[in-house]
Amino acid sequence: MESFYQNKKIIVTGAAGFIGSNLTDKLLELGARVVGIDNLFNGRLENLKEAFKNKNFEFVKGDIRDLNLLLDLFKDADIIYHEAAFTSVPQSVLMPNTCNDVNINGALNVLNSARIRDVELVVFASSSSVYGDTPELPKREDMKRVPISPYGVAKLACESYMQVFYYLYGIKTISLRYFNVFGPRQKDSPYSGVIAIWLGNILRNEDLIIFGDGTNSRDFTYIKDVIQANLLAGQYDAKGEIINIGAGCPINLTKLAKLMLKITNRENLNIIYTDPRPGDIVHSFADITLARKILNFEPKFNQEQGLRDYIQWYIKNYKVNLKFS
Ligand code: UD1
Repeated sequence: MESFYQNKKIIVTGAAGFIGSNLTDKLLELGARVVGIDNLFNGRLENLKEAFKNKNFEFVKGDIRDLNLLLDLFKDADIIYHEAAFTSVPQSVLMPNTCNDVNINGALNVLNSARIRDVELVVFASSSSVYGDTPELPKREDMKRVPISPYGVAKLACESYMQVFYYLYGIKTISLRYFNVFGPRQKDSPYSGVIAIWLGNILRNEDLIIFGDGTNSRDFTYIKDVIQANLLAGQYDAKGEIINIGAGCPINLTKLAKLMLKITNRENLNIIYTDPRPGDIVHSFADITLARKILNFEPKFNQEQGLRDYIQWYIKNYKVNLKFS
């Protein structure tokens, strides 16, 4: 793996974000030269603290909707990891145009720039939200996709663009359908992922809120496994493939809330149930047979292992007072 990435010029869009910054650190560790782009809307420079110490890292504050910027930065690039996005499902329900603009037009700029600059491969961060609420579980890549939020529609459109650019222009592309990624650097904000929100609640001694009756389930996937999937995808002779990246072991929200309270010794806090959230999928669970077969991907963290690793990181980085059990 090390020799493959050594000295390659790699672009990471969304480099200051949760997934982008973790990917950037790993690529730098493997000897790559990384150019990170981020408009700092969601991303934070704090996430790139380690990267800034590395002479092989360059950061550019900019927007993926700026075609000229991408054309300039993509010169001589070997691989583009396109992680920048409007990431929140509920926010996409409130702001469908912005979501469309960032996620679809932005991805199209990335593809066009990659084509013009003869970049070898584009790895795209897609999402399990493309499946929508169809009843069949676990989700296999060839199943029906019926997105139920503007966010899901946009990710689905981008997957198609990735394939079309391979067929029309011969650029290698691969889309990784992430299933609820969590871990270090995920922001604790009202529009963030549920695990980061609840960890924030726990640290502030607040009750946990569940939208709906708690039976909604997700295949929460630990960030380290997602980074591993990206490294494998970067070495794959891609032809527009679309591949689920999940842990393959779903958990419902009530069980997740109880597990988090137990691990952190905060079982005194309450779980409060409220109205379901518009645009939410009920169940999400990945079949990862294809990822195993073509990428040799094997998740190493189930939810509890991931949560423990995440919380340990949190305690170390923020010196918080939390007892582990
Ligand atoms: C998440 C990602 C999205 C990604 C998708 C699939 C975020 C913000 N969204 O969407 O980018 O494409 O996974 O990988 O990371 N919930 C509560 N209480 C809360 C917050 C959420 O009960 O305080 C519930 C939601 O109603 C939902 C579940 O938790 O049922 C998961 O929500 P969330 O973490 O926002 O993720 P997704 O919407 O699945």
